[in-house]
Amino acid sequence: MFKALLAEKNEEEINVEIRELNNEDLPEGDVLIDVEFSTINYKDGLAITNKLPVIRSWPMVPGIDLAGVVSESERADIPVGSSVVVNGWGIGEDHWGGFSQKARVNGDWTVPLPEVFTTKQTMAIGTAGYTAMLCVLALEDHGVMPDSGPVLVTGAAGGVGSVAISILANLGYEVHASTGRAEETPYLQNLGATGVIDRSELSEPSKRPLAKAQWAGAVDAVGSHTLANVLTTVMDEGCVAACGNAQGMDLPSSVAPFILRGVTLRGVHSVYVPREKRITAWERLAKDLKMEHLDEMTKTITLEEVIETANEITNGQIRGRTVVDLNN
Ligand SMILES: NC(=O)c1ccc[n+]([C@@H]2O[C@H](COP(=O)([O-])OP(=O)(O)OC[C@H]3O[C@@H](n4cnc5c(N)ncnc54)[C@H](OP(=O)(O)O)[C@@H]3O)[C@@H](O)[C@H]2O)c1
Repeated sequence: MFKALLAEKNEEEINVEIRELNNEDLPEGDVLIDVEFSTINYKDGLAITNKLPVIRSWPMVPGIDLAGVVSESERADIPVGSSVVVNGWGIGEDHWGGFSQKARVNGDWTVPLPEVFTTKQTMAIGTAGYTAMLCVLALEDHGVMPDSGPVLVTGAAGGVGSVAISILANLGYEVHASTGRAEETPYLQNLGATGVIDRSELSEPSKRPLAKAQWAGAVDAVGSHTLANVLTTVMDEGCVAACGNAQGMDLPSSVAPFILRGVTLRGVHSVYVPREKRITAWERLAKDLKMEHLDEMTKTITLEEVIETANEITNGQIRGRTVVDLNN
């Protein structure tokens, strides 16, 4: 028997609680993993609180990330005893995910644990941190380099934002952080932000199609009016990597930044990214993310604390990243 957080739906009500399960309860897959760590992302918060219909198959073990050791395998290329990371591919949405001491998954979804990381560190990074890296790769693809000019990160004190600031600053960019939590200014500066702006400057409906050009690039975890305002302040040929919707799913913008400044709005997704690109992103994280920053931005909780933390993350109350220790 092992412990897992199980979400069940009865008509419109959802119930989420810790249950004792056994291997026969697990979904199909060719690799069985003893999960050591998982993590809470914004999407997990939405799933557990049912604020958005993230879960597409019931009952569901939520958790879009997991890391652990293979305990049974039908795959010669994924031996028993190897450490692996799984994020995305629908785990925690339509296939049982990481808030469980055991997970059975499709071996193609696993990535070998990058040598420089422990399983705990990979979950401190998690989907949020790996998506931050994908955003940085997107800016680089579009020619936004450290000497192009200052860059902005929105949703700065959250998971994506914290990791993005640390990576960008470490690469030599001049990073500015937009946050609703002024009290986190020392934290953001410690990660490498040179400037901190209040998110209220960006969160109201945009007044003009263009404003003073300030940013060579941006990583946006917020969407809605914030993204629309960011677009109006990007320099000629700049790029915004947009990955999030913490303010909202809408984008009340105009075409002005695109047709008058040649700005690129680059969407960043993470769930169905091909394996080779994932491996590249993990390799770059190993090189470009400072481990002392990762420790500073990470808190560890138990499975019993997941529901409370899910509520906190959807209320914008979590700083940085939260790891879930499945064996504590
Ligand atoms: N595209 C993908 O595949 C992908 C992958 C990972 C994450 N995401 C998305 O990226 C976003 C961030 O994820 P996360 O895990 O970093 O979440 P998080 O830790 O909760 O961070 C989100 C941050 O956004 C800011 N925020 C929250 N509510 C806001 C509001 N109403 N208006 C403006 N800012 C607000 C807060 O930062 P401050 O307190 O600093 O203002 C908050 O810490 C989420 O929307 C998530 O769904 C997408």
